[in-house]
Amino acid sequence: MAIPRDFINELIARIDIVDLIDRKVPLKKAGKNHSACCPFHSEKSPSFTVSRDKQFYHCFGCGAHGNAIDFVMEYDRLEFVDAIEELAGQLGIAVPREQGTGKRPDQGLSRDLYQLMEEANLFYQSQLRQHQDKQKVIDYLEFRGLSNDVVEQFGIGFAPDGWDGLLGRYRQNQAAQDKLLTAGMLIANDNGKRYDRFRDRLMFPIRDRRGRVVGFGGRVLGDGTPKYLNSPETPIFHKGNELYGLYELKQKHRDPQHVLIVEGYMDVVALAQFEVDYAVASLGTATTAEQFQLLVRSAKQVICCYDGDRAGREAAWRALETALPLLKPGDQVKFMFLPQGEDPDTMVRKIGKDAFEALMQDAMLLPAFLFDTLSNNHGADKGALAKQAIGLIEKVQDTVLQNLLLENLAHKLGMNSSEDLKKKLGFAVKKAQPLNAKGLQGRGTPLRLAIALLVQHPHLGFGLEEQAALKRLKMPGVDLLGHLLEITREQSLNSAQLLELHREHEQKSTLIKLAQWDHQVADENVLLEFKQTLIWLYNQSIEQLYQELSLKQTLTKVEKLQLTKLIAIIKGKAT
Ligand code: UTP
Ligand code: MN
Repeated sequence: MAIPRDFINELIARIDIVDLIDRKVPLKKAGKNHSACCPFHSEKSPSFTVSRDKQFYHCFGCGAHGNAIDFVMEYDRLEFVDAIEELAGQLGIAVPREQGTGKRPDQGLSRDLYQLMEEANLFYQSQLRQHQDKQKVIDYLEFRGLSNDVVEQFGIGFAPDGWDGLLGRYRQNQAAQDKLLTAGMLIANDNGKRYDRFRDRLMFPIRDRRGRVVGFGGRVLGDGTPKYLNSPETPIFHKGNELYGLYELKQKHRDPQHVLIVEGYMDVVALAQFEVDYAVASLGTATTAEQFQLLVRSAKQVICCYDGDRAGREAAWRALETALPLLKPGDQVKFMFLPQGEDPDTMVRKIGKDAFEALMQDAMLLPAFLFDTLSNNHGADKGALAKQAIGLIEKVQDTVLQNLLLENLAHKLGMNSSEDLKKKLGFAVKKAQPLNAKGLQGRGTPLRLAIALLVQHPHLGFGLEEQAALKRLKMPGVDLLGHLLEITREQSLNSAQLLELHREHEQKSTLIKLAQWDHQVADENVLLEFKQTLIWLYNQSIEQLYQELSLKQTLTKVEKLQLTKLIAIIKGKAT
């Protein structure tokens, strides 16, 4: 899957982040920077700033930050690779791929697959208007109460009966047939004979986040089985990674407040028709971690909607277990159960948007659902309840939520506080990572300043001679400086490019913090200050070496010589 680093570097160099952001969030010049009200949280006065020098944005309100790639990932809700594609697309250049790494499908092939899927989609839609059997489909749509608008919005179509409705369009094109087979649109029988997978079905195209059709769900027009036939896994379709309706939702709401997760295609479509246009469906399976991640990234509140029956409760519980380790501070997950025999489709038709949304408001918060279920499971057996609860709570990464759950549990068990509980269970709650966990010492050390200045002004390092003294110096964080100097010495980079090189780096978060740190050094003094920090570090290394040597019992010839030199240097500095 690798995209060459050089290309990414080049991309960041060619995109101007101020222009990029200004097109979506109009910016005002404010001193050296540009600013606006932050697009990532709601605020009245602007605390979102974009720096042309650093090619970096930062919000002092919510802490959002990053380079052009991060902005596109956050703002357009794209994955890394998709964000690169998007930016490259804006520049009209193609994204190269490095050969032989990972098992990413052949780009040429997947491009063709997307193309063919879109053709199939258009074909099915046209059949809804043109096919001789279209009346029965129109009748079925009417029976289900689907409006023309919503049919159009979701691109719903019709796969006609027969073995070669789609296949027949590619009679002369063996290559396209092969690809349709790969895309799951055709099936080959034991004799190698090929035929359409989807026949006499209402077709729901499934789009990925970029709006490309990657699969279909096909419903029988009545009571046959299977009720739904779905595309198989293909090079461009991985059920567990996609959510039906997410693309359509994003078209309506760039920044949705909440997302409702339901079970069926029909539910998503019916809800949208009734203006509950923020529902998505996992594709006929339990909601996966990937899907959950997508959801909590899309909206702060995720409401999981299930049938009120046993199967619905079980599905909700599986979703809870999947969600627990993924939740971040501020994420809110709720669970909503419909009355027996209803699904969101029938429910919204019965009670309408407002009443449906009122039900959503009353949905159970995750802790309530968790403890409710545990109480049901274990009744009066508090030991068993505690055991299962702790097993779940341990998985929670978000310390705020974790403590909340522990408080809840302590209360359930009749204890005064979660502290008692933690003691009793020997439960080690994760501590929030201290700000500068590994690496740098205090806040304002010269070393920290050196790194910050270099991250914010990488040209400081360009062409600088090798700092041998740094290699010897034993000081936490000095490796990071040495590493950055090595990179910036060789190539002229801006901050955004430098940070991009560290997207996967273990010290990434330190670098990002330092990129935004207000070091209080005036522009005209940056070079001088930087040099001074290097001198300070050099002096430190001399001191250290001197200490080491002078503590030794016996010295080699070389060491003796070194020591004499060091003393001279130190004396020289003193005068
Ligand atoms: P449902 O049976 O609840 O279907 O299955 P539905 O969406 O309410 O559809 P209608 O109202 O009966 O038309 C929920 C989801 O489970 C998957 C589909 O994704 C469906 O939307 N499913 C169901 C299948 O994949 N195959 C099936 O045979 C049935
Ligand atoms: Mn239904």
